[in-house]
Amino acid sequence: IEAHFADGPLRGRHVVVTSGPTHEPIDPVRYIANRSSGAQGTAIARALVALGAEVTFVSGPASVAPPAGVRLVQVETAAQMMQAVQAALPADAAIFAAAVADWRVASASGSKIKKKAGALPVLEFAENPDILATVSQMGAGRPALVVGFAAETDDVVAHATAKRQRKGCDWILANDVSPATGIMGGTDNAVVLISDAGAEEWPRMAKDAVAERLAQRVADALV
Ligand code: CTP
Ligand code: CA
Repeated sequence: IEAHFADGPLRGRHVVVTSGPTHEPIDPVRYIANRSSGAQGTAIARALVALGAEVTFVSGPASVAPPAGVRLVQVETAAQMMQAVQAALPADAAIFAAAVADWRVASASGSKIKKKAGALPVLEFAENPDILATVSQMGAGRPALVVGFAAETDDVVAHATAKRQRKGCDWILANDVSPATGIMGGTDNAVVLISDAGAEEWPRMAKDAVAERLAQRVADALV
């Protein structure tokens, strides 16, 4: 008999992780999306499982395989991701690594939009729910630790610090996605952990190592 959960500091703890992009349909064959492989979220879930956590992994259409040992909930849109996260609560911690599309097409077409010479379609957008902000700002039932990500350019720490304030989460892992860093689409990540204690710069390391370090910090915070 295989043990379901590994022994470790997060044994008996439930952590919700969002990962991957969301796809927002335009019509049955087209969508808008964010660029995300799901690699960082997948690595985080794997690292949490290795420390004994029970992980609900809410994933958009990612290009990497989901981690083993999680409760996998596959979604497509931001609205579905929001619903899946709410259904997964309560949790001790929630980590929002998904690249959620900020907007959806207000009324997606049920039939394929046909191309007509000289007639360009005009899309009207509606704002998607902010999953991180919603969970951060819920009263009763809020996870004890809520962690967001912030992919930024230019003044990364300033943007991420403002984002943490605005959303109300406990920690933000900020990363610099300027093309010059080569982070987007690569195997490495260089993050700054923003918390009440200020900005803590982590050295550039593999995404797996970022995940392991974060999982350990989550375990330290939940004791
Ligand atoms: N996020 C979320 N739901 C959304 C948008 C974002 O849960 N609808 C989460 C992401 O998973 C990430 C964090 O919020 O953890 C920051 O996402 P980001 O796109 O950087 O924040 P935004 O507030 O959308 O700001 P921006 O204008 O920079 O896109
Ligand atoms: Ca956004």
